[in-house]
Amino acid sequence: MATTAMLPFASMAAQATRASFGHAADGQNIDIVTLTNSHGMRARVMTYGASLQSLLVPDRNGKLADVVLGYDTLQGYLDRRQYFGATVGRYANRIAHGTFPLDGKAYHLTLNDGPNSLHGGVKGLDMQVWKVVDVKQGAVASVTMQYSSPDGDQGYPGNVTIKATYALSDDNQLKIAYVATTDKPTIVNLSNHTYWNLGGEGSGTVMDHLLMIPGDAITPVDATSIPNGQVVPVAGTPYDFRMAKPIGRDIRDGRSQQLLFGHGYDMNWVISRKEAEARVVARVEDPRSGRVMTLWSSKPGLQFYSGNFLDGTTVGKDHHIYRQGDAFVLEPQLFPDTPNHPDFGSARLAPGETYRNTIIYRFGVDGAMAK
Ligand code: BGC
Repeated sequence: MATTAMLPFASMAAQATRASFGHAADGQNIDIVTLTNSHGMRARVMTYGASLQSLLVPDRNGKLADVVLGYDTLQGYLDRRQYFGATVGRYANRIAHGTFPLDGKAYHLTLNDGPNSLHGGVKGLDMQVWKVVDVKQGAVASVTMQYSSPDGDQGYPGNVTIKATYALSDDNQLKIAYVATTDKPTIVNLSNHTYWNLGGEGSGTVMDHLLMIPGDAITPVDATSIPNGQVVPVAGTPYDFRMAKPIGRDIRDGRSQQLLFGHGYDMNWVISRKEAEARVVARVEDPRSGRVMTLWSSKPGLQFYSGNFLDGTTVGKDHHIYRQGDAFVLEPQLFPDTPNHPDFGSARLAPGETYRNTIIYRFGVDGAMAK
């Protein structure tokens, strides 16, 4: 009894505060919620795109750095769509020609990536103003944001209600839980598009970060980044990250058509053929700062994108120019274009069902302090 009675006091470590972060083009207020824990970790999540605007993480000496790319002010996010920290959907990644069949009918989405629809189309979830519906503090500090996407939004059927909960706990874990429901059969595939640099945003390249992805195969793409339907083993290719290696070690291997198509890594790893129990889908370590991030999800696929289209024309936080390879993106999700590849699984969500994608980012440091 005595122990339980003390818990609430012992666990008031993680806190949440809310403030305004400016106004969207149509005048809507954008809120930003700050979650902090007792180790100085701090996550800031804004209602524009339910996006992770910053994340302070300690290095091996306890020094904090913001490990996610983005902007200091809302205007940067409004001026240019780059998915920094954003929630992406209704269908994360690409749908070929923006067209997919569902229950015998063809649906047509808005196109925003050559002939294809990328990350939800012309006005995806990353550009919508979400509503804060819950803020909690205590053992875990969290914020839940909600967005109701109307029937026909970007061509997707069904009124779909989406919730994104960001939760920061005292064991240096950030958890994002996406949940969606619909009133008509539809397709849903949500993920988070944070650009990470474990040395701190603006600190330079991530090519020396050690990456491990426990995937035996990838789903190769065509010149427009649409899967060609094959599932190809990674053994003996630049895509083999089963043993941790520097991101940049094989990125200049010109024998790989996939690296040429993507201007670097930009493809889906097969972690499993089906949804599974939550397990590690990637581990990344920055040898310089000692920061380590372990990513957990239950989804079958993991898109790994090595920041190939950061071209030195973006001035982000603290006047930092972001250049090619200055960040990596890891998106646990269904395989790209699944609705057009029945053997990839199913993205169908029906009324009465609940879509979920829970992504856990665990932070630590290498050997020196891992006790
Ligand atoms: C895609 C890339 C795309 C990027 C946009 C990634 O998820 O795989 O092809 O360029 O998002 O930031």
